[in-house]
Amino acid sequence: MFSTEDARKLARKKLPRLVFDFVEGAAGKEVTSARNESCFDEILLQPRVMADVSQRSLVTRFLGRDYDLPFGVAPMGMCNLVRPRADKLVAEAARLHNIPICLSSAASSPIEDMRKWAGENAWFQLYVGHSVESSLQMVERAKLAGYETLVLTVDVPQLSRRPRDQRNGFDMPFRIGPKQFFDFATHPVWSLTSLICGVPKPQNFISEDGDDKFVRRASRAGADWQFLDRLRDIWPHHLIVKGVMSADDALRIQRSGADAIYVSNHGGRQLDSAPSAISTVSKIRAAVGQGFPLIFDSGIRGGEDVIKALASGADFTMLGRPILYALGAEARVGLNSLIKLFAEDMSLAMAQLGVANVEDINESVLLERSPTVGEKLNTSLQFASSQA
Ligand code: FNR
Repeated sequence: MFSTEDARKLARKKLPRLVFDFVEGAAGKEVTSARNESCFDEILLQPRVMADVSQRSLVTRFLGRDYDLPFGVAPMGMCNLVRPRADKLVAEAARLHNIPICLSSAASSPIEDMRKWAGENAWFQLYVGHSVESSLQMVERAKLAGYETLVLTVDVPQLSRRPRDQRNGFDMPFRIGPKQFFDFATHPVWSLTSLICGVPKPQNFISEDGDDKFVRRASRAGADWQFLDRLRDIWPHHLIVKGVMSADDALRIQRSGADAIYVSNHGGRQLDSAPSAISTVSKIRAAVGQGFPLIFDSGIRGGEDVIKALASGADFTMLGRPILYALGAEARVGLNSLIKLFAEDMSLAMAQLGVANVEDINESVLLERSPTVGEKLNTSLQFASSQA
């Protein structure tokens, strides 16, 4: 495994189609998901020579803490589907590499366990599901468990239609018909280990009376402006709002007292005509001003992408699908290799850019960005209207 793409290919072989597609799939025709990646390739970096880059450091300060690397693990529900105890493996990796891991509300591991496994590296992500009160109970649990960073996800007012999941009959709880049975039977290693360890299910929506309350397609639109104000009042630690793609929204979130904004289009899993997330960062940076903490995900597939996100205005980044590909490919070994590959690629690219520290990565390392199709269209429309 020498790249995210290697991990993806291996995971594709080893995982049942239903599981692999749950990870890789996205909304609609999956155009935004693809655009997230291709837009990174259009960004060029400016090589510089003869700087003293013999010693380089990737240590990054974010929200008052030093992390060894400028990236962490994005919140992802049901990671244990990819590999039994995946959440625990990620937690161990987070401690080992001193990076944050954000546990999803929809995770198949309890809030309290993740805090024990990952220690202070654990963040918690909140969905406001069909009941605002049960979401607030989760916040209380996170507070009691000792979490100091809460990420409120706001870009899933309603779960989007993901055709791959529909085709595969993916749902929660699992329904196993002939199609799924064949899929599992042709991936016996995954099926046996999952059987032995127990089929994963969302752990954090379970109420005290034992009812499993997670309804995947229920509205999550309770995460509105009033809720944000309420959350700000009751959550005394760091509060990050995730899924922001508009400068106007970013400004309002900043005014609401959030500590950071998390620029993301959910990896293209929500709106298939959204701009690439990376093309939005600089606009949001310009709106919130220098110094306001910005975090970024969606489309990062290598160390150079992390540099591009930081140079575009992010202070920190998160990895999504690459983490699950690595786990699906080679479990703990795959995960650690992937994190090391990202770190090594970043460090080597920094050497080429004449930059020794992460804090010195800024827009001066960007050479130019060839216009995206959307931008070309915009320019030609402007030209046409100026001619008219
Ligand atoms: C996600 N994502 C997500 N986000 C969130 O806030 N809560 C969640 O429970 C989930 N669940 C989830 C499951 C899976 C399988 C994936 C792939 C993604 C979105 C995630 O945090 C992140 O925004 C995207 O994964 C970033 O895109 P890339 O880089 O993975 O393409």
